[in-house]
Amino acid sequence: MTASEIQLASRLSAVKPSASMAASLAARALRAQGTDVIDLGLGEPDFPTPRHVIEAAHDAALAGQTLYTAAAGTPALRAAIAAKFRNENGFDCSPDDITVANGAKQIIFNALMATLNDGDEVILPAPYFVSYPEMVKLLGGTPVMPVCPAEGGFRLTPEILQSAITPRTRWLFLNMPGNPSGAVYSEAELQALGAVLARHPQIMVLSDEIYEHILFDGRSFLSFARACPDLRPRSLIVNGVAKAYAMTGWRIGYAAGPSALIRAMNTVQSQSVTSVAAPMQAAALAALTGPQDCVATFRAAFERRRDLVVRGINAIPGLTLAPPEGAFYAYIGCAGLIGRRTPAGGLLADDTAVVQYLLNHAHVGAVPGAAYGLSPYFRISTATSDVLLQDAIDRIARAVSALSEAK
Ligand SMILES: Cc1ncc(COP(=O)(O)O)c(C=O)c1O
Repeated sequence: MTASEIQLASRLSAVKPSASMAASLAARALRAQGTDVIDLGLGEPDFPTPRHVIEAAHDAALAGQTLYTAAAGTPALRAAIAAKFRNENGFDCSPDDITVANGAKQIIFNALMATLNDGDEVILPAPYFVSYPEMVKLLGGTPVMPVCPAEGGFRLTPEILQSAITPRTRWLFLNMPGNPSGAVYSEAELQALGAVLARHPQIMVLSDEIYEHILFDGRSFLSFARACPDLRPRSLIVNGVAKAYAMTGWRIGYAAGPSALIRAMNTVQSQSVTSVAAPMQAAALAALTGPQDCVATFRAAFERRRDLVVRGINAIPGLTLAPPEGAFYAYIGCAGLIGRRTPAGGLLADDTAVVQYLLNHAHVGAVPGAAYGLSPYFRISTATSDVLLQDAIDRIARAVSALSEAK
């Protein structure tokens, strides 16, 4: 059978591969040709996974933890997650109402697989994490992506939420701190959203809290479960070890939610991947229960880099960046570059063209705002060394100064 004869499922027709992965592949392809590229496309901490976490996986495998586990995750890990939610986030849940999967992404996939019927709508405030709309489409749903502009701090407001709701709305996704914006919600803001949701009992909330530990300017984290306890019976609180413990490649995410939803997600899990690899679960257990000083060290580094990037980017005419409140991205406004021409005469018609120019001219990899549902912006990850970030900013500044003036 040739490639053109392979019949793909129709549900794939509208689904795009991950834009951040694609940006990274383009950067790697240029690097493979011998170009010195700084790739700020993908968001993963550049720190090594803490040693005690690696050792825990090794010890677990040597001790025979090499078999399938319960689909929901090992009892020890689920108990540790329940303790984490109690101690760090201030809400109680039974380990039976917790599920573990191969990353927060698979948690989200399982939740949608377990709940969406064709045409069900999922509200994804834009700018959103690139995978949300594609997962929704893959599972037969319809993403509804109301724009939350920079003037409102990229946050969803009760008015925007209300206008996005229809009788077919099944889920609202929240992500705080947000990827790509870094936006964080106050208790009052979450409760105002909760008041809208109280009028629409068919809507569930997925709160993606994977960046909870990466908060700046002395902020402390408030889980949606804690801000809106009345909505707990229809809230899924999603988290994972990838970002807080520099464990993106270990693929461990988890969630707490209502029993019926968690049971359904476990059914999806058991009939797809069976369970998460046992040694990886032991590693996640060590991350959650072991020394936590790495979390503070990583956070401080991300804040220092955030400051470096905010200073550097705002010194470049045509680019704007309000200080992100958390996470490790900078969502840079590039309205001032649109309509200008490159030294080769190319027109920067949109943020995709800007990103293309930055890659080819400055050799800096970024992701266009179009991928996040809000233009004209581009996202860079600040999860790389201060030296490389400064180099990238200098390159961007030189590339911008080489553009013709807007007519
Ligand atoms: C908002 C958000 N949720 C989930 C994920 C994925 O997490 P995991 O690596 O645990 O699948 C990411 C990764 O970039 C993210 O930005």
